[in-house]
Amino acid sequence: MTRVLVLQGPNLNLLGTREPAIYGTRTLREIHVGITARAAELGLEIETFQSNHEGALIDRLHVRDFDAAIVNAAGLTHTSVALRDALLAIERPFWEVHLSDPWQRDEFRRVNYLHDIAAGTFAGMGEAGYHRALEAIAERFEAGA
Ligand code: DQA
Repeated sequence: MTRVLVLQGPNLNLLGTREPAIYGTRTLREIHVGITARAAELGLEIETFQSNHEGALIDRLHVRDFDAAIVNAAGLTHTSVALRDALLAIERPFWEVHLSDPWQRDEFRRVNYLHDIAAGTFAGMGEAGYHRALEAIAERFEAGA
């Protein structure tokens, strides 16, 4: 069974109350329940991991106990060479997800250290972006790539 790590970066633990006009009112737990259900339908094994700490996210990636990842690096998307290096080092394909569309927001959010190395990006679709990423992974691994 294809194993998928869903990696969630800083401040995403506050979803539900964090800037709801931008990120919606669903909590991270609720979003993860939805992701887990969709993963089961697609026959994917899933684990979710959220941290506010760059090093903890990198350490989790280094475990390499997954075939593909879905990464919402949150603010670290726009700042972290170290997270980019980790994603390159582990040699696992990952899909980038953002609830909002960073390219339509502040100028500084257009700086993105992950976009060009991601297998795909889903942004501005809310939690549906995670589901699209799961579907992309299911398709890729069914195809035997
Ligand atoms: C985000 C977008 C980032 O720019 C922001 O720093 C976040 C969340 C999103 O999911 O829309 O924390 O990744």
